[in-house]
Amino acid sequence: DANDIEKGVYPHFMLKEIDEQPFVIRRIIQEYEKDGKLQIDQEIVDTVKESDRIYIIAAGTSYNAGLIGKQLLEKIGNKPVEVHIASEFVYNTPIVSKKPLFLFVSQSGETADCRAVLVKIKKLGYKSLTLTNVEGSTLSREADYTLLLHAGPEIAVASTKAYTANIAVLTILSALIGDNMNHEELHHELSIVATVIESICDEKELFDEIAGKYLKDTRNCFYIGRHIDYYVALEAALKLKEISYIQTEGFAAGELKHGTIALIEKGTPVIAVISQDEINLNTRSNVKEVKSRGGNTVVISQKSISQKTDQVIIDDVHPTLTPLVTIVPTQLIAYYAALHRDLDIDKPRNLAKSVTVE
Ligand code: G6P
Repeated sequence: DANDIEKGVYPHFMLKEIDEQPFVIRRIIQEYEKDGKLQIDQEIVDTVKESDRIYIIAAGTSYNAGLIGKQLLEKIGNKPVEVHIASEFVYNTPIVSKKPLFLFVSQSGETADCRAVLVKIKKLGYKSLTLTNVEGSTLSREADYTLLLHAGPEIAVASTKAYTANIAVLTILSALIGDNMNHEELHHELSIVATVIESICDEKELFDEIAGKYLKDTRNCFYIGRHIDYYVALEAALKLKEISYIQTEGFAAGELKHGTIALIEKGTPVIAVISQDEINLNTRSNVKEVKSRGGNTVVISQKSISQKTDQVIIDDVHPTLTPLVTIVPTQLIAYYAALHRDLDIDKPRNLAKSVTVE
């Protein structure tokens, strides 16, 4: 029961849940390991394999995790994927493929916007799979299949460990439906991720300092990234705006010059996420453009492509799994920004942990 969960030594659930992420990744490995191999119920794997296209349906942070899920399922699993905001899908239903599989991503398993889509697609006779943290939740009961996150109860309204847990489970599913990542690799790469998250969580002073310096008094903030980092930027921006009330947007770095750069003033914080070699220099030139207009820039990068002046340098992980680690500094930056602004971190105004109305 959620009321029995204690904060322990932590001042807030959010910080506790951020810190739990390495443990959650390791628990997912344990829970999905059978006979020395990471496995998922064969019927689920076959259903996903037999589908010709996956439709991910989700809201909020789970939607942002779904955007990363698309990258994984396509790059590692070789399966075409569309990601839809649940509340839009109901009205704006796209032309659906011949053999679709609907994948509902929902921490609580109770989001009404998702349920409305589930009801609709069931009437159409389509198959469904729910990825959720809550066994026996509505979306879990009503879908054909369920995969559990095993993240433990998430109490803070701002979702953190469910995001990384979603991506970790989707990594396992992707590896099992495709043949681009074998068992040993999968196990090894997820273990590296857990270790790297741990070392990021050991550097809290750094994120406290960045938040204090750039986010304490600002009105707005931007996250930028290209490629998979763009999707991380979207979640990073959501996290920061949810709990700090700073107007924050995530942008594709290449789009900056097509409009958003007009908003950059002296002191505007712009945080860039750079994890991929192929976009490294392009995103860096966007950072330069911001800097020359007076913006305060922060770069979060992977070690192998880092530069000395980058404020946050993260040890390398598998190139498609970088969101699992690059998101963590942004969660901590959001946390400390809200702390510096003296806000109610675990219960931000106007937000609910799970939204059961459409
Ligand atoms: C609410 C929460 C968000 C969450 C979203 C989807 O808006 O405040 O943190 O991401 O619902 O919730 P779900 O339980 O479906 O993942």
